[in-house]
Amino acid sequence: DAGKGGYDHYMLKEIHEQPTSLRQTLRGRADPATGDIALEDFPPGTFEEISRVQFVACGTSYHAGLVGSHFIGSRGLPAQTFLASEYAVSAPPVDENTLVVGVTQSGETADTLSALRRAEAGGARTLAVTNVVGSTAARECDDAMFIRAGPEIGVAATKTFSSQVVSLSLLGERLVRDVVGRRSDDTQDVLSALADLPDHVQRILDYTKAHRVAKRYRDSDSYFFIGRGSVFPVALEGALKFKEISYEHAEGFAAGELKHGPLALVTPATPVFAVFTGRHDRKTLSNMKEVEARGAPVVAVASETNEEIVQYADDVLTIPDTHPDVAGILANVQLQLLSYHAAAQLDRPIDKPRNLAKSVTVE
Ligand code: AGP
Repeated sequence: DAGKGGYDHYMLKEIHEQPTSLRQTLRGRADPATGDIALEDFPPGTFEEISRVQFVACGTSYHAGLVGSHFIGSRGLPAQTFLASEYAVSAPPVDENTLVVGVTQSGETADTLSALRRAEAGGARTLAVTNVVGSTAARECDDAMFIRAGPEIGVAATKTFSSQVVSLSLLGERLVRDVVGRRSDDTQDVLSALADLPDHVQRILDYTKAHRVAKRYRDSDSYFFIGRGSVFPVALEGALKFKEISYEHAEGFAAGELKHGPLALVTPATPVFAVFTGRHDRKTLSNMKEVEARGAPVVAVASETNEEIVQYADDVLTIPDTHPDVAGILANVQLQLLSYHAAAQLDRPIDKPRNLAKSVTVE
């Protein structure tokens, strides 16, 4: 209990550690004033030979990888994210100009290690993005980048997801500069948003209404999460966290896919959590209205200044205004809190959910 620092669970402690862990992840690596990026082992030019990037990962780390490939791909460098367990059995072609990035908190996940070994055997260059110095992934890959989130005890990954996404944004910016040959147009805006991130997360922790929202929708049949673009992975992550610790049925969908099938599941007993970033909001708002028309309660996770969304939603979990590519990290913190409180109200064993392990070392 001493290790929980006064919190009821490690998960809650780790959620609250995020302002500190994010500062550690960022320390010395980016200067918003000049736009400079300084990644210890990756000076400018490190990735000049690379022509495409593939991320391999599992679970929460897979969702971070999806955010990473969206970030890089939208800035002109071909990038894809694969579930490591699938990559290990049906890998796409690679060559010496392919960078395969294993995203793994523990650095010990068997599926991710298999995928990285397969990539290496195919001649790709490999890089581990991990929290654990000396882990198998860090040792076996050609290079390693450490996310510096500090130890994470709760089986549900929280602070490491945030630090993974920040690390992949910085790595992504380095890659884009080396390969595309110029800074992203919005580099300084992204770096400023990252610099503000620890304070923004603190603001969410201080003012969240997630416990009230969790209580209000406690007896629902299922919980759905939707997002578009950079926050489609946040919808997936919100649902994974929710099912993992509350044992309630939850699913994440690309907002635009609802009408292609999942809408049949939507009823007044299926609250829908819609994530907004300030980009593509109009389309996601129209998806939100589609589920409302079927009687589902809608909880928007959105900027505190977006009055139109606030007006249509039944409840709002607000996030500070920031760059759209950083907003997902903030929205995810609200969803971490939502899952935590839903599970706590159901008296679940939050730090050790049934059937799950912190590190999965079998394929
Ligand atoms: C996250 O809450 C899960 N416990 C799980 O999905 C985890 O992210 C996955 O097993 C990958 O672990 P890794 O990051 O250590 O490779």
